[in-house]
Amino acid sequence: MQYGPFEEDYVEENYRYTEAETGRRYRRGDLTAAKPGGDVSYEWHGAKPYKGRYWAYSRENMDRMLAEGRIEFRKTGMPVFKRYLDEQPGVPLQDVWTDIRLHAGSGERLGYPTQKPEALLERIIAASSNEGDIVLDPFCGCGTTVAVAERMGRKWIGMDISPTAMRVIRRRMNRDHVYDFRIDGMPETADDLRKLEHFEFQNWVIDVLHGKHSPRKVGDMGIDGFSFFELDPIQVKQVERVGRETVDTFETAVRRAGNQKGYIVAFGFTGGAWDEVARAKSASHPLEIGLVTVADLLDNPLDSPLRANLPDMTRGLLELARTAAAKASFRQEPPRRKAEELAASLEAVPIGGVEDD
Ligand SMILES: C[S@@+](CC[C@H](N)C(=O)[O-])C[C@H]1O[C@@H](n2cnc3c(N)ncnc32)[C@H](O)[C@@H]1O
Repeated sequence: MQYGPFEEDYVEENYRYTEAETGRRYRRGDLTAAKPGGDVSYEWHGAKPYKGRYWAYSRENMDRMLAEGRIEFRKTGMPVFKRYLDEQPGVPLQDVWTDIRLHAGSGERLGYPTQKPEALLERIIAASSNEGDIVLDPFCGCGTTVAVAERMGRKWIGMDISPTAMRVIRRRMNRDHVYDFRIDGMPETADDLRKLEHFEFQNWVIDVLHGKHSPRKVGDMGIDGFSFFELDPIQVKQVERVGRETVDTFETAVRRAGNQKGYIVAFGFTGGAWDEVARAKSASHPLEIGLVTVADLLDNPLDSPLRANLPDMTRGLLELARTAAAKASFRQEPPRRKAEELAASLEAVPIGGVEDD
């Protein structure tokens, strides 16, 4: 049985007394009973049970409770039991829970819009599973369920359509020094990336570069994020060939933002786009624009040396990402567990039936 705290009104109304010496709140409880149980019709400190009733305890127990300070007397001389608020477990939980909230300034917050409080998942997991069981959250978002399941000694599986959610979960787990898990289905090829929803693609690029996401998702003059440390604007285009016009518009955005450098990331660029970059570099107020291809990002993973023949701007940007990764003491995922191992661990739990203890 799990309990929630009493409502304030309930406490005010029912626990009306406060012990002067300790400040503990208590309510008075009847010491008589309807049915006799042994020798319970005696006179005690000049008082007798109400008519037709009996003491609820033997004389010895009444004496002991008085000595322990658990009994006091009404003005009428009738003894009553002191039931302390801090000894009550609370209200047995019902199916509407209003006592758990994720507050605006909570340290738990990860910026995920629908994030749930950990205490809520703790309650659900404790009520519905035992240590060693598998917890499944098929819409796991930023991973509150799986993070709490891990902490509570459960195995877990999380699913989400969003690779961004998976990266948030990886960071959340690593922050708790949890590395022994595997993420499947992340975009790995240019084709995977072509299929992503636009914001997912944008998030992927900015995350790979360890950049800072633009606070606004739309209408930021095409600035989707900023490079690590130097905070130069980055525009992300999920198109095959970015042309001259896009570069030209981006130059204006970079100048307006007060930067001398900026980057566009896309699958490819036209000759006109490269010409525009050269023109901007030799203008009277020179501007450096890096045209970075998705292939450059995919071909230069953090755990291998940067490829030769990268354009200077791209090399610089990727080096910044590596510095950022090192700073965040980035740790690679442990080797993937073999499919058979995973299958075996799943078979250990009967699916569809949870046995009562
Ligand atoms: C309400 S959120 C979950 C929030 C989560 N409980 C938490 O505390 O972070 C719902 C999630 O479902 C995911 N989602 C939406 N459609 C989906 C689908 N078809 N398959 C898997 N996940 C999906 C969304 O990406 C979103 O992260």
